[in-house]
Parts: sequence; structure tokens; C-alpha cells
Amino acid sequence: MSAVSGEAKLIERKFPLAEINAIAEYETAFLKLMPRELREKIKELVGVSEIKFSDPPKIRSIMYYPARRPSSAARAVTLAAALGEGTELKSFMEALGFGELERRAQRDKIFVPLYAIDPDRELVAKLLGRDPKNVVVVDPMAGGGSIPLEALRLGFATIAGDYNPVAYLLLRATVEFPAKYGRKLYELVEEEARKMIEYARAELGRYYSEDDKCYIFFRAAHHDCGRVLPLARTSALNRKRGIYISFEYDKQAKAPAPKISDRQPPPLTTCPYCGRAVSEKALQAKWVERHVKLLEALLSGDENAADRVAEVYLLAAVKREGKGRHGGYRLPSPEDLERLREAARELARMAGSGELHSLIPLAPIPAGNEVFEGVREAGLRYWYQLYNPRQLLALAKLTAYVRQRAEELRGEHGELGAAAALYLALALLKLVIDYNNMLTMWHSERQIIVNVSGGQYALGRSVRLGYDFCEAVSYVTLLWALEAEEGEEGGEAEDSEETRGGILPVLKLLYSSLEGLWREGVDGVYLWDATRLDDALPRSSVDIVHVDPPYYDQHDYSGITEFFWVVLQQALLPVLDQLFPKERVKIDWSPYDPEIPRRLEVRGGPPKEVGALSAFGTKISAFLRAAANVLKTDGLLVMWYAYGKLQGWEELFYRFYESGYKVTKTWQVWSESRQRFIASLTKAFLTSIVIVARPNAERARLADPDDPDFRNDVKRAVSQTLEYVLARYGPANLREALVTALADGFSVATRYELLTLAEDLVFQTHYRRLAEAALRAAVDAVLEHLAALAGARTLSVGALDAASRLYTFLLLAADDDMRVSYDFANRVAQALRSPALSSLIRGEQGGTALLAPPDVIPMVAARAAHALIRDLLDTALRYGLRAAEDRAREADRQTAALAYYYASFCWRKLGLPLEQRDTVLNTLSGVLR
Ligand SMILES: C[S@@+](CC[C@H](N)C(=O)[O-])C[C@H]1O[C@@H](n2cnc3c(N)ncnc32)[C@H](O)[C@@H]1O
Ligand SMILES: [Zn+2]
Repeated sequence: MSAVSGEAKLIERKFPLAEINAIAEYETAFLKLMPRELREKIKELVGVSEIKFSDPPKIRSIMYYPARRPSSAARAVTLAAALGEGTELKSFMEALGFGELERRAQRDKIFVPLYAIDPDRELVAKLLGRDPKNVVVVDPMAGGGSIPLEALRLGFATIAGDYNPVAYLLLRATVEFPAKYGRKLYELVEEEARKMIEYARAELGRYYSEDDKCYIFFRAAHHDCGRVLPLARTSALNRKRGIYISFEYDKQAKAPAPKISDRQPPPLTTCPYCGRAVSEKALQAKWVERHVKLLEALLSGDENAADRVAEVYLLAAVKREGKGRHGGYRLPSPEDLERLREAARELARMAGSGELHSLIPLAPIPAGNEVFEGVREAGLRYWYQLYNPRQLLALAKLTAYVRQRAEELRGEHGELGAAAALYLALALLKLVIDYNNMLTMWHSERQIIVNVSGGQYALGRSVRLGYDFCEAVSYVTLLWALEAEEGEEGGEAEDSEETRGGILPVLKLLYSSLEGLWREGVDGVYLWDATRLDDALPRSSVDIVHVDPPYYDQHDYSGITEFFWVVLQQALLPVLDQLFPKERVKIDWSPYDPEIPRRLEVRGGPPKEVGALSAFGTKISAFLRAAANVLKTDGLLVMWYAYGKLQGWEELFYRFYESGYKVTKTWQVWSESRQRFIASLTKAFLTSIVIVARPNAERARLADPDDPDFRNDVKRAVSQTLEYVLARYGPANLREALVTALADGFSVATRYELLTLAEDLVFQTHYRRLAEAALRAAVDAVLEHLAALAGARTLSVGALDAASRLYTFLLLAADDDMRVSYDFANRVAQALRSPALSSLIRGEQGGTALLAPPDVIPMVAARAAHALIRDLLDTALRYGLRAAEDRAREADRQTAALAYYYASFCWRKLGLPLEQRDTVLNTLSGVLR
């Protein structure tokens, strides 16, 4: 590896990749859906064959935030970036908490994920050789806070910020407050939680019936004939058991009457009253109009408007606790409808007395909000219009409550009181956002409410008005959202305690591990713009910048969080000044603004093609430069990269280059749940990578990108990585090894510069030529290294025809079904100057290319090698091993070597029978020796 200023860090040399990936995967998985393979991996990891898997509270349960990273991986990456290269991996793992994890597994036969175990801070200090508080770790785009949370737990001086006020509050709630106030905070919140639940029950209980769980509504509007029709596409309540809702259209009734049916009713194409055609779009528009008018009337204090409630929101079914007849569903009763009307009347009364308007989000949905664009286009212009009257009532009452308590708590406890109010507001948010708005949906397979963040937003990054929506019983939901402990403590089995995803159990976990670690004036959480980090922090003051930035337009952070912000802001009105003190706010924005300052967000679409640049990238460059200014000379920047598109990967490395960094190491660390990760594997080869870089790089100068020194440097980087990963973990981790090796080889381009081009030529051109040459050399290096490793040393990679080289490499990179990312394959083909990819693949689908079987491809060497394998198998079968050995001897060495190579690494992918593999390896190894 080329020179690194000062001592290299552990992460630039070694990292317990497979262990951390398994742990991270466990953290992101849902226990109930955990793949068998992962269970086995974990058992192996801790060396215990019979083990119980525990599911302690998840940090994400405190509040939804997009793109949260597994905190156990964040911990490992930070520590590896702080320790020197000489650190023993074993001590490193022990310091991370693996020791404790293993002990618990072996002693108690229970697997506790790493995030629920504290790191060994004494050992951290010892390995570091100094007080960890002297190591400054900054996460400038900290979002949900995985990185700073773990940096603080390790004992480092921890500074985190985000431009987004929701993230900023979440960072304070997740990291700062539990650390600063510890148990005191927890107890206060717990007490407050009980009071809030009491209040909710008393104030809201009468608007629901005791043992209902959820109400399922359809929107309804008037047809041309003046009769009310439901807007419904599917009306499944429980698909598995065949429980549906259909409607009876009685000419006397004001609205169609729901009934439970055992089959899906046909879609409504003609009106059952007048027989004319029904246009969904027209009905939708009418519904919006009625809904908006109804809310306006109620908000003007008109109690009579409440009578229309049941016609605008058609209550179709009520889900009760438990199963029972009809799977626990019942039809709405007249009392149900009366309760709905009563809630609407109360809303109107509150409006009439003037107390309502400051309690609900009256602010407009900003035109710049892309997530809610569809909703706006449908005609809903204000945030409060995303709720039905009863939902709005619950929102208003609870907002009023939190606001009042916030004021009182602040008076009594100062900042601690404001902090306590923040958790109450987060609980309110959980209730409102997840269960009580009209963008929810009923999940007819799992019998649950699909919330906005996990449903519409997760699926399409945008939100629309659907057909059905749900409403939960608000005070019951609050009970869940807070999850205050019922009864006495769980005793020793506490770790394995199942939680239902409430806030208090998370807070307990947080304060237990963070209490006492906060040092005011050293640690900090800021509302800032990372591209101006050097305005906020002193120059040369930071040891590690550890960042997980947005990736192009993958998420619309401001878009989705604005929905949350307008609720938070109103509930926390009296304590906004405590929560956003001047010294914490580094951007030009006021917490009284209902709009998120989206103009600051590092965000934008990817470049149109490989080699082009994007506006997003320009911001990343600005950020990287600002980060270079605050980093110490031997400081490290570590960045997570979790993006699928190849253009992004190429641009990002260029941005490092452009901003004066050199990339010293990469690792493929899994950062998302397995399901999503696996899905992206074949679409994107180089994803989920941690990139380690150093600023102010001095670069070696080159006359020619094919310079042998440069190529050798690439080869060294590739070999070191492959050797390290494969020697440690074997071929089971070939994929991680390949990705990391290739990225490492590719990053060598950031350590050189070209002399040949005139200064005024686009700088990017220099880099592109280097990057291309690096990729070419890296592919060769991978092939050569693996050849040596397999003992097929006689394979001369350089002598292979370009297409066979490409094919062989793609075969290595492909999954077991011979699929590989199309973009990636194309890019490698280009770098290898290989003829058209099209002759090597059978086709492309959804971004993945399907490799053609070797017997149909025109590639000389690859095809010959495959033919040889077939021949050997055939001969051995018919005439015995000796005859096969003779055949092997007749083959030319290059073909034999390549065949050996395929047998070593690609056997299964080639669809050959596993039990015959040794035959081929044995016959060939004789001649290759
Ligand atoms: C991928 S998320 C971080 C997630 C986090 N690592 C976690 O585990 O929860 C990226 C974050 O960058 C923030 N961000 C975007 N532009 C920013 C800017 N200019 N300054 C500060 N933060 C920014 C976004 O608000 C978002 O929270
Ligand atoms: Zn009609």
C-alpha cells in the first residue's frame, strides 16, 4: 500500500469483516423472519450450537428515520479507525464487546446482539494508549444517530450534526439526553408517560369502544346521480381466511352499507344506483372536495357539519382484539358512527372556543416537498388535511397535553424537562404518523396497519391517497408507543425481554449504556450544514470524520420528515428555545419555521451516465473540502457508501480525488437488512462499502496510466485484500473479498496524478484515465491472485483473450444463478477493452445480466476449458480415472489451468454435479504440478 502519513490505522489494514457483517445482519433483521443461514452463522460465531436468540429493544423504535445503519457496525468501524494498525484483532474484538457477547452465549446460551452490549471502554483506552476523550469523532450528517451513539459509547469525544431539525432532535434524544441525564431522565419520562396515557384515556377514551383495535375506512364520494359510492379497489380484510368487505346499495340509505363477504366483490365500474359509468378519478376529486369542506366547516366551529362524517369516511369494518368469528372483524354499529360524529363535534367545539387552531398543523405542504407531491396534486394542500376529524381531534388533544407539560416541565427541570417533553412528543408522533392518518393502509395478509414510513414511503419514496385507510384507538396506541413498564421489572431475563417497539424500553437501553459519558463542551449535537463544517468546528481539530451521507436521490429526507416536523414543532412550542439553543444552531433557519430547510440537503439525481458529474456530487465535494479543513493532518475520513448505480460509485471516487483525498482502504460492510441487500446484489456489484480516505494527499506523478509501478500498486492492493479476506474466512466470503479487492484496486487511482495532460484539460479526464487503468489492472490482479491461490499457477492471465478474461471475471462475480449486475459487467468490459458483452450474456433483465453457459460462448479459452471439464468427467465415467488423467495430460497447460480454476471457484455456477468436482481437480492437479 502506498505511503500513509503517520502510522496507518487498523481499518486501513484489517477488519473482522465476516463477524461484523453477521452481527450487523442480525441487528437489521426481524427476529421472526431471520434466515436459517444467519442463525447458523451466529451459532458458529459464538461457538454454541444450542442458543436462544434475543431481541432487545431496537434503537430504531425510538422513531422512524430513513436509512438507519446498524450501530454495531458503526461501532466497529469507528474503533478500527481510531486504533493503530498494530492492534491485535483479538483485542479489538474484545474491546468492541465480543468477549462479553461470547461469554453470555456460552454461559447463558443466549445470543445478545452487540448493540445491546457495552464496549469494554477500559480496554479501548488501553489499546489506544490515551484517554478516549482526546479522540474527536465527528459525524456531520448523523441522521438517526447510529454513528455518534456508538462513538460516545466507546468513550470518544463525540460531535454530531444534521441540517434536518427532526434528525437533530432525534440525535439529542438518542445520544445527548440519555448520556447527560441518565436514569433521572428515564424515571421522569416514565412518570410522564403514565400521566399522558391517563390523560389520553380520560380525554379520548369515549370516542372509541374499549376492545376495538383498529377501524378500517374507505373514502366515499357522490356519484353524478347524487348517491354516495365507496372508493375501493380491493376490500380484503384477511386474504388467507377469505374475509372481504362488500357493500349493499340500498336506495333508502344515505351511504352504502358494508357487509362481510367471503369473496372479493367485483370492481365498481357502473353505479349500482343509476347504472352509469363510474370514474375513479372523478370520485376521488369529489371526495377531496368534500373532505376539505367538511374539515373547513368543523374548523370554523360548525358542529352540525359532524353529521356528514360517516358519508365522507365510510367506516367499513372494525378489527377487534383477538380472532374470533370473522377473524375478529365486525361491522360498524350505529354507536360506532355516533362516536365518530361526537369526535367531530368536539373538534368543532374546540375550534369554536378558539383553542384548536394552534394545535393542529395548519401549515401548507410546501411545493418543494416531493414525497407529498401526489397528495398535493390530489388537492390536499395543508398538513392537517391528512387526517380525518377523529384523528385530528386526538392529535389536537395530545398536542395540547404535551405542550402544557412541556411548559411545566421546563419550569420545574429546565433542559431536562424539555428533554422529557421531547420523548412525549416522539410518542405522539409514533401514534399520529404510524397509526392515525389517512395515508395508512390495511395489511390484509398480516392483519396490521401499514404505516406511511414502512409502507408507501418505503416502497416508492412517495405518498399518495390510497383507497382504504386505518385508524387505531389512540390511547391504546399511546400505551404501545411509550410502552411504560407494567408490573415489576423482569429480573435477570431482562435482555431477552421482548418489546413491542415502544420508546421507554429503548430509552432504558440508551441511558444504561450512555449515562455519565457526556461531557458538556466536549461532546455536542448541532443543527448545521455539513458542507460548511469548517465554519462550525475549529481547523485541524478532528481525528475521525465518520459519515454516512445521503446517496443521490435515494431518500427525500426533508420530504418525509416534514410530515413529522409540523407535529413535533407544535407539541414542543414552549421548549423550542431550550431544544434549539442559539449555540447549537449553525444554519440560517428558525425552529418556528414549519418548513425543513431543504435547500441545504445534499441531494440530487445521479449523473446520466458513467463519467458524468452531478449536482449532488458538487455538494459532496464541498463537504469533503470542509471536512479536510477540520481534520488533523493524520486524521481519517470514513464514509459509508450504499448505493446501487455504478455512475454513483465512479463519481464518488472522483469526488474524493477532486477534493484532495486519497482512498486508502475499502471494506464491504453490510449496512441494510439482508432482504434488501440481497436484492441489490445482482443489480449493483459495488454497494455497501465503507471507504477510508485521508485528506491533503500528496500524489505520485505518472506519465502514463499503464505505468508498471501504478499497475503493481493496484495489484498489491488487490492481492493484500484477497489474501486477508480469503485466508481469514475462506471462499464462503468470496463475494465480499471480490468487492473489497476491486474497490481497493480501483481506489489506487486516487493516489496518483497524470502529468501528460495539459493543466487546462478537464481535470476529470486525468482521473478517468487513471480509474480506467486501475480497474483494468484490478481485474487482472483478481484473476491472477485467485489462480495462484487455487494452485492453478500456470494460468497466464495476460495470455487469455480479452473476452475469456472478462467472462471468467464475471463468472466469479456472478451469483449462483449466473446473474451479475449489467452496468457493472458493461463497465468491466469497457475497462478490459473487450469486445461486446452481448456475446457473453443471454440477456438483461431489471439491471441484471444473465451469463451465457460456457458451451455456447465464442470465447476461445473459456470454452475450451469448459469442454475439457466435460471431457474429463465423461472419460472418468466411462473408462476410469487413469484414462481421464491421460486426457488431462494431452490438454494444453493454459486450458488445463483455466479448467482447474473454474473447478475451484465456479463449479456450482456452471451447474456441474458437486460430487464429481474432486475428479476434475485431482486429474488436473497432476498435470499442473
Ligand atoms: C444516510 S442518512 C444518515 C443515517 C445515519 N447514519 C443513521 O444511521 O441513522 C444521511 C443524513 O445526511 C443528512 N444531510 C443531508 N445533507 C446534509 C447537510 N448539508 N448537512 C448535514 N446533514 C445533511 C440527512 O438529513 C440525513 O439525515
Ligand atoms: Zn350513480
